[in-house]
Amino acid sequence: MTYTSGWAMVTGASSGLGRAFATKLAADGMSLVLVARSGGLLQDLADELREAYGVEAHVIVADLADADARGPVIAELETRDIEVLINNAGFATSGDFADENPARIAEMVSLNCLALTMLSRAVVPGMIARGRGAIVNVASTAAFQPIPTMGTYAATKAFVLRLSMAMWHELRPSGVTVLALCPGATETDFWKVAGNPDGFRRRRTIDDVVTTCFDALAKGSPVAIDGVLNAVLARSAAVVPARITLAVARFIARRP
Ligand SMILES: NC(=O)c1ccc[n+]([C@@H]2O[C@H](COP(=O)([O-])OP(=O)(O)OC[C@H]3O[C@@H](n4cnc5c(N)ncnc54)[C@H](OP(=O)(O)O)[C@@H]3O)[C@@H](O)[C@H]2O)c1
Repeated sequence: MTYTSGWAMVTGASSGLGRAFATKLAADGMSLVLVARSGGLLQDLADELREAYGVEAHVIVADLADADARGPVIAELETRDIEVLINNAGFATSGDFADENPARIAEMVSLNCLALTMLSRAVVPGMIARGRGAIVNVASTAAFQPIPTMGTYAATKAFVLRLSMAMWHELRPSGVTVLALCPGATETDFWKVAGNPDGFRRRRTIDDVVTTCFDALAKGSPVAIDGVLNAVLARSAAVVPARITLAVARFIARRP
């Protein structure tokens, strides 16, 4: 299925992958609801998309980790006919669990898991009624094994992967598709925000991930891992003993 008209919502659209997803959807002809905390960056992007592609663009400035602040976003999903929802906003921290700031942990679980779940829940009834729609939940290759020093983050992405796969199966007969998109390390601000700017230098490009996403969406796949090496590493976690995958994951996530 392809999406070339109507409305799409992208969370975390102010930078990195979210900005690129929004641009691709606008280039294909979709109007956009752009969500993040950085209002100025969203307004600039909205102007750019209107000008370049002649689509409509609406901005909602919201901290999605905050349940109250999610209200207007959920209202938008319940009232506007959103054809594509990309739950992309997310972040990681880096360090031992015992040293992590408890408030930051709560923020991460709330954003990466709860916001994604509640936004999906808000959009699904309308999609079912219309008999079409797509939800892309941005997971990660971190979803496939626990990662010491990024433990909470990897656990949030395992949640995203499992929920998305179950949703894909439930919703398939209704014409609604759900994709768990699993990028590996990608060249965005993600690593800087995680406090490990030089971590995992073999990074894929934003364009690689966007291509993987939209190819998988067109096929109606439930899961897409970006990049062959990432796919091999992620899938091997299921058959390699846990002690080994834990040690390898810790090595890969280390601060150089
Ligand atoms: N880059 C990688 O290596 C990589 C690998 C695997 C998965 N991912 C996933 O890809 C997704 C996008 O990340 P990225 O790589 O594009 O990183 P990024 O450039 O840091 O983008 C993160 C986006 O999330 C938004 N965001 C963060 N906290 C938010 C909050 N509380 N409320 C609303 N929006 C919030 C940010 O906007 P504001 O700051 O303006 O709010 C920003 O637009 C994330 O889910 C991440 O886990 C990334």
